[in-house]
Amino acid sequence: MNNAEPLEIYLEEQDLGRGLREDVRVGLGATPKWLPPKWFYDARGSELFEQITELPEYYPTRAERAVLAARAPQIAEATGAKTLIELGSGSSEKTRLLLDAFTRRSGLGSFVPLDVSVSALRQSTEQIAADYPGLRVRGIVGDFTRHLDRLPAGGRRLVVFLGGTVGNLLPPERATFLAAMRAGLEAGDWLLVGTDLVKDPRVVVPAYDDAAGVTAEFNRNVLRVVNRELGADFDPEAFRHVALWDPENEWIEMRLRAERRMRVRVLDLVVDFAAGEELRTEISAKFRPTGIAAELDAAGFCAEHFWTDPEDLFGVTLARAV
Ligand code: SAH
Ligand code: TRP
Repeated sequence: MNNAEPLEIYLEEQDLGRGLREDVRVGLGATPKWLPPKWFYDARGSELFEQITELPEYYPTRAERAVLAARAPQIAEATGAKTLIELGSGSSEKTRLLLDAFTRRSGLGSFVPLDVSVSALRQSTEQIAADYPGLRVRGIVGDFTRHLDRLPAGGRRLVVFLGGTVGNLLPPERATFLAAMRAGLEAGDWLLVGTDLVKDPRVVVPAYDDAAGVTAEFNRNVLRVVNRELGADFDPEAFRHVALWDPENEWIEMRLRAERRMRVRVLDLVVDFAAGEELRTEISAKFRPTGIAAELDAAGFCAEHFWTDPEDLFGVTLARAV
């Protein structure tokens, strides 16, 4: 029996291309220059991210896994979900802890992972369908900032958003995202969201600037994607990975610094970089428990549980749509 359905594609190659062109036009034309983070994740980007999750410096994955390992049975019990939806699912590796707990409890009918990365989704849906034979697995290729109205309806739903990915949205984008999320749910549905917590920057910064240079490769991958998809002529090796802690905003900012003057051609644009000029690629916000609850509350959720790992590095909130 094949319980993995074909991927549902809400983002065709041509949409991706159009989106990337628009983002490149706006972002590389701006001062300072920037590119949105979803373009990191082609097949190689998804692969590099998986390597990041195993780095000794990158604590978020291990910490979040510890929370899920401890709380999965309680999450299954409290929510009684029939459908488990996962946004930005990637490999869904940690989500297996939830699937295990739900399977033991019985009642979960389908698992619906959504990601922009076709390659990650294809692998994860095949493996999960094989490992959970009674489960209906429907992968959705989509953008969680655009396609929340297409999530499956009916039955009690639990939406999970792990990895601290919600922190990769800017605060106004986050508010819009949470409100759209709430609008796509019914009262009584659930949201489980993982957020990295504010802590000593001497712990945070190395997680985004590892000794082996994997994060640097990941960051530069966005330039390779633009080169390949839009025929640009970035020299990725001429950009240096920068991870900065911004104490005011309490976020990490990832940048790519041009090591020398450069002129890049992309689309019909000529983009000049001064020596030392930085291109912003991503923020990763760190949260405080009161802030998370307030943001959820403002979007129409009630945070019912907040759990952390034994070292208080990472928080997982279970919120109910009200
Ligand atoms: N949930 C996994 C992966 C986190 S990395 C974990 O916790 O380890 C972020 C994931 O979100 C990647 O798989 C990436 O492809 C996906 N992603 C990033 N921006 C997205 C967007 N706008 N819409 C859908 N998926 C997105
Ligand atoms: N959601 C992950 C995080 O904020 C994404 C991430 C990890 C990331 N390392 C990165 C994004 C390095 C860009 C660069 O932790």
